[in-house]
Amino acid sequence: MKVERRPTASLYPVPVVLVTSADQDGKPNIITIAWAGVVCSQPPMVGIAIRPSRYSHQLISRSQELVVNIPSADHLSRVDYCGMVSGRDVDKFQATGFTPLPASRVRPPLIKECPVNLECVVRHILPLGSHDLFVAEIVADHADEEVLDGSGRVDPKRAKPLAYNSQQRYWSIDMEIGTYGISRKNRAL
Ligand SMILES: Cc1cc2nc3c(=O)[nH]c(=O)nc-3n(C[C@H](O)[C@H](O)[C@H](O)COP(=O)(O)O)c2cc1C
Repeated sequence: MKVERRPTASLYPVPVVLVTSADQDGKPNIITIAWAGVVCSQPPMVGIAIRPSRYSHQLISRSQELVVNIPSADHLSRVDYCGMVSGRDVDKFQATGFTPLPASRVRPPLIKECPVNLECVVRHILPLGSHDLFVAEIVADHADEEVLDGSGRVDPKRAKPLAYNSQQRYWSIDMEIGTYGISRKNRAL
């Protein structure tokens, strides 16, 4: 039997990413974001939902630039920390020991320790209610050689991404269970 529940943002699991931004002097900040996802493939775009009260909201609205850094499960504690304190009060690069690396197309830095980094330019900002949706085009994509497979694709077993659910729990994703188009090979669904 199905139980009808109060509607909440209960899509799960979702990726957890670290979004970097920079102020007018180039000083960088990091925010932990779980409301993030791919929204377009041509051009490649991501959607990031940020509350207007966040310092990062102010920085990204002004500069229209951000970097989506995909952390690995090894970074769990530092990922959580970047979602607990504000860049208004704390230099999160200094506090976490994460290393800023210059990006090629935008001002906010890449986080060296994160195996994948997507440089983005904001194309739309959509006010939704509690959060504003930043729709941003990926203009450069970086990945650590060690997490790539023989075809140049990110291997999740090596990159070890983090997932999150709406019950405030972090999860790891470490098992492949099929390939795209599997339904064409299996006669029985
Ligand atoms: C796992 C996790 C996920 C989060 N996801 C979001 C999110 O999607 N959008 C958002 O506005 N805040 C999110 N937050 C809260 C911000 O990361 C947090 O308020 C942060 O301190 C804001 O930093 P800033 O003021 O330096 O921008 C999340 C926090 C955690 C721990």
